[in-house]
Amino acid sequence: MKIEALGIEHFYGHEKVLNGVDITITPGSFTAIIGESGSGKTTLLSILSTLLQPTFGNVQYDGKILSELGNIDRFRRTNIGFVFQFHYLISYLTLRENIALGAIEESRVDSLLESLGISNLSHRYSDEVSGGERQRAAIARALVNAPSVVFADEPTGNLDSKNALGVYELFREFSLQGTGFVVASHDKKIADYADVIIEMEDGVVKKVYK
Ligand SMILES: Nc1ncnc2c1ncn2[C@@H]1O[C@H](COP(=O)(O)OP(=O)(O)OP(=O)(O)O)[C@@H](O)[C@H]1O
Ligand SMILES: [Mg+2]
Repeated sequence: MKIEALGIEHFYGHEKVLNGVDITITPGSFTAIIGESGSGKTTLLSILSTLLQPTFGNVQYDGKILSELGNIDRFRRTNIGFVFQFHYLISYLTLRENIALGAIEESRVDSLLESLGISNLSHRYSDEVSGGERQRAAIARALVNAPSVVFADEPTGNLDSKNALGVYELFREFSLQGTGFVVASHDKKIADYADVIIEMEDGVVKKVYK
């Protein structure tokens, strides 16, 4: 799906935190949104991913604004995956149960556990595995309904650099198979893995490269 942000401005109260953002996300690409703390990455990602309504401007999915997409719950469920900085796995469920929880078809669960390298841990509870393994489970959960795009906000914020690179590598591999990734991160290393880098500064796009 092609995702376009057109003339996005966003205010929290009187504070303007996005000041005219226009970007296009190509289907199936791995796009990194980088920039310093407070530059507006999370706000932009939330707007792009339908979670937050911009004060001005709009987001279009394949040329349609959100109100034209029909049932928004259904749209998110079938088209979008989310990964957050904190994994938000349910500690009472095993990794496998967490991934299966929102699955429309359960058939993908085991192959995803396999491709994320956590099938040997599938029956452990989330507090019985490492941070990197938990984050991989969260990525599997985001992918379980074969979304066209996955949005991730600081997915490696709690990982060491080796595990962080492993996560970028996974995004790269899945994007080569056609899943788009839009990832907000203040880790500049992500630029080595992404197809496109959008650099934010003080609420505007400073540059887009690669
Ligand atoms: N819910 C909110 N209410 C008020 N101001 C907010 C809110 N969320 C963010 N802001 C402000 O908006 C600006 C952009 O914040 P945002 O979270 O988008 O930045 P960021 O680039 O993701 O930062 P970080 O790298 O620290 O996660 C900041 O000045 C922040 O203080
Ligand atoms: Mg942020």
